[in-house]
Amino acid sequence: MTDRVLVTGSYGQIGTELILRLRGIYGTSNVIATDITPAPEIIESGGPARYLDVTDPRQVTALVVENKITHIFHLAAILSGNGELNPQKCWDVNMNGLYNILETARTWKVKQVITPSSIAAFGPDTPKEHTPIDTILRPTTMYGITKVAGELLNEYYNQKYGVDARSLRFPGIVSHETEPGGGTTDYAVDMYVKAVEGAPYACFVTENTTLPFLYMPDALDALLELAEVEESRLIHRTFNITGFSASAADIAGAVKARIPDFQCTFEPDFRQIIAESWPRSIDDRDAREEWGWKPSFDLNTMSDDMIAKLRGKIGG
Ligand code: SER
Repeated sequence: MTDRVLVTGSYGQIGTELILRLRGIYGTSNVIATDITPAPEIIESGGPARYLDVTDPRQVTALVVENKITHIFHLAAILSGNGELNPQKCWDVNMNGLYNILETARTWKVKQVITPSSIAAFGPDTPKEHTPIDTILRPTTMYGITKVAGELLNEYYNQKYGVDARSLRFPGIVSHETEPGGGTTDYAVDMYVKAVEGAPYACFVTENTTLPFLYMPDALDALLELAEVEESRLIHRTFNITGFSASAADIAGAVKARIPDFQCTFEPDFRQIIAESWPRSIDDRDAREEWGWKPSFDLNTMSDDMIAKLRGKIGG
């Protein structure tokens, strides 16, 4: 049977790029892009794109059954910043959405479900440097709470029902195709966009705020590699991954080294406390050992590529 792939949250930062990669691998007609917003031209013109509200179990089931779905990348979620502005909606989308996906997968024997988790699963009591997979998970954001609960729900559906659920704790993801929507690590993307536009930027965390990051091509590779690895090789179901760690000043400096006119000020808002509750660096050795994870980009190579791509898109 041909693999038939469903992607939820397809028009977000990760989804828009993942859809294009998946179409190349599985064939355009075998990748069903879904979201609650209208499809961008790049997605709609190239293959199936459907409306799907993941909080509605009937819609999830109907879509999976009608399209004979075998694999799901479940990306629909409210991110950390927006989650603090509307915690109730964050719980509803993130928890009920995942529950509906896993229940449908169990009932209709979907082969695999991949869901991003996040460094937001960690909290202020977690060791900050080289944070391992198994450590204190006491997040203080609603987003983080849904990520910890989601990891446990994935593992429950795996152990009790045999659903091949897998998850990655993404750090901040930097990309140029689609802007992130309402996360705490969005400032990293914003710096590049503003600099290429020739505009100043007021960064919403302090200069010395240090977090782990990953460039989108590496993030997509990680999702696809995790999906491909033989189930028998996996000891874990949830993995830490990281590309590099950088402070807000490091990122602003990397941008300024390439665009000397770039002006960046630091004006922390409510997201500062969220950022401070997350690790500064991540130990991703289990992903490296179990499925050969290895990132390609560091801050410098990412900065070169980001600026070249953004210049191609918005000029400068
Ligand atoms: N980038 C995400 C956020 O800031 C972390 O998962 O919400």
